[in-house]
Amino acid sequence: MNQDTKDKINRKYERELEDGERFWPDSIFKDVIVSLGLFTLLILLATFVGVHDSPKADPSDTSYIPRPEWYFLFLFKFLALYGQIPVLGKIEWIATVLIPGIAVGLLTFLPFIDKSPDRYYGKRILPIGLMVIMVTSMVTLTLVADIPTVLAEGPTLATILQPVAGLVVPGLGLTALVLMSFVFRQTSTRTMIATTVMTSGLMVALTAFILLAAPPAHAETVELPKTLADKIVAGQDLYSLHCTECHGDDGSVTVIEGVEGLDGTVISPISSRDVLYTVNDASMAEIIAYGRPELGMIPFGKAYNPEGLTRAEIDYIILFMRYTWDDRFEAPVIKPLYPPLADGEVPSYDVHIAPIVKRYCISCHRDGKENNNYWMTTYDEIIDMGDNAPIVEAGNLESILILVMQETPILDENGEEIIGVMPPNKPLKAEIVEIFKLWVLNGMPQTAEEAAALSSPPENTPTPAP
Ligand code: HEC
Ligand code: HEC
Repeated sequence: MNQDTKDKINRKYERELEDGERFWPDSIFKDVIVSLGLFTLLILLATFVGVHDSPKADPSDTSYIPRPEWYFLFLFKFLALYGQIPVLGKIEWIATVLIPGIAVGLLTFLPFIDKSPDRYYGKRILPIGLMVIMVTSMVTLTLVADIPTVLAEGPTLATILQPVAGLVVPGLGLTALVLMSFVFRQTSTRTMIATTVMTSGLMVALTAFILLAAPPAHAETVELPKTLADKIVAGQDLYSLHCTECHGDDGSVTVIEGVEGLDGTVISPISSRDVLYTVNDASMAEIIAYGRPELGMIPFGKAYNPEGLTRAEIDYIILFMRYTWDDRFEAPVIKPLYPPLADGEVPSYDVHIAPIVKRYCISCHRDGKENNNYWMTTYDEIIDMGDNAPIVEAGNLESILILVMQETPILDENGEEIIGVMPPNKPLKAEIVEIFKLWVLNGMPQTAEEAAALSSPPENTPTPAP
């Protein structure tokens, strides 16, 4: 800095001192106004936008894959791309410590490195150019952060272009700018601006291309139950899937039947006051998470069972148990399992059979259950699966399915039982068996429309005159 500029700056400083702005109250007042504005903005955002739902944190869940907050995604992606570089990619500290360290260090020491007195943009191309390329690269890396860096099925255009857009182009641009300023000192301002614009433009174009070629796979948006009623329904579904097998659909089973290795085990009915009044929610959660391994109940918590339930899911099951069985809890109104049938109405698989099967049968009849090879998770499986297929035929009330539901075991020629009654632990309600019979007699319609076509109109509708 030469004497002239120094004097100029000093004179300007003197002038401002004379005009003067007091710290108190002038500056403080400005600060207060700005803080108040930010505070109001925060309140408005919290009130009208809020944070989106995510499942309750579960410290025992070992399968959780952590992801950084959005403002760190660019670093996260940078690390992932860097890891792809042969040899160098293995030396992790270069990307995790050295490069971010240099970047932060540059920011800290910039005032000492760049001592140019000029404030005019045209004379400050190097710092501005470096900044533009870095910021563009942060933005583009953030945008592609959700796109997989490597795919098991081999490289695609999107995976090949990512390191180009994220490492090669910005790397070359930054190097070129530095070389132009310090090595070829004669480079014109224009060339440097062009280099900056081209580098950033290329990054943006490549990123747009990558995003078009491989739109980010949207992380499964889990619809979280919000109201108490929704949580109870979620708990009911989880219970039907995991617990009905041993404890029965209503928790009343006292002797386990139809479960590999546990047939005949005597258990306390978990819907009884004895259990509900003596086990509080915390111990209930413990029992479900840890199970009763010595007695045959497997652990259901994620901490002990990778395929198990999250803490939130266990809580829903407990809510379901309390509000359905515990007489100290008043349950909110919950939709019935299936809509009641009108006179002459034919039930369908979609509306009636599927929900019933889900509640009473799926727990034992699905993939992964060893003691039978009859699954009931789809329309086709129910009708035609397993060693004795077809299990049910249109119009035939002597079908295996209908017989076992009515407490009639299937015997072989010698009178030996081959299929027991279903569900093994507790007879179905007569009303439910009637629905199955109606469904079979009417040809087992799958959709509500098919069933409606088969239904006879209610008797009081006037039939058109002949
Ligand atoms: C494979 C069979 C099986 C499954 C599936 C099963 N349990 Fe159990 N459960 C048992 C056995 C066996 C016991 C111990 C018997 C006893 O304590 O009376 C038990 C005990 C319990 C108890 C403790 C009862 C008491 O007397 O304190 C609760 C509560 C319970 N189970 C809830 C559940 C819930 C909720 C599920 C579903 C997530 C479930 N169980 C799934 C077999 C099972
Ligand atoms: C506690 C477990 C359990 C539940 C719940 C259960 N089943 Fe079963 N089911 C079995 C087992 C085990 C078999 C194998 C045959 C046997 O042991 O009797 C079987 C066999 C069957 C079969 C004969 C399939 C074949 O080809 O062998 C039918 C049909 C059947 N179940 C229907 C149902 C229906 C309908 C429901 C629900 C209303 C139901 N089951 C609920 C355990 C269960």
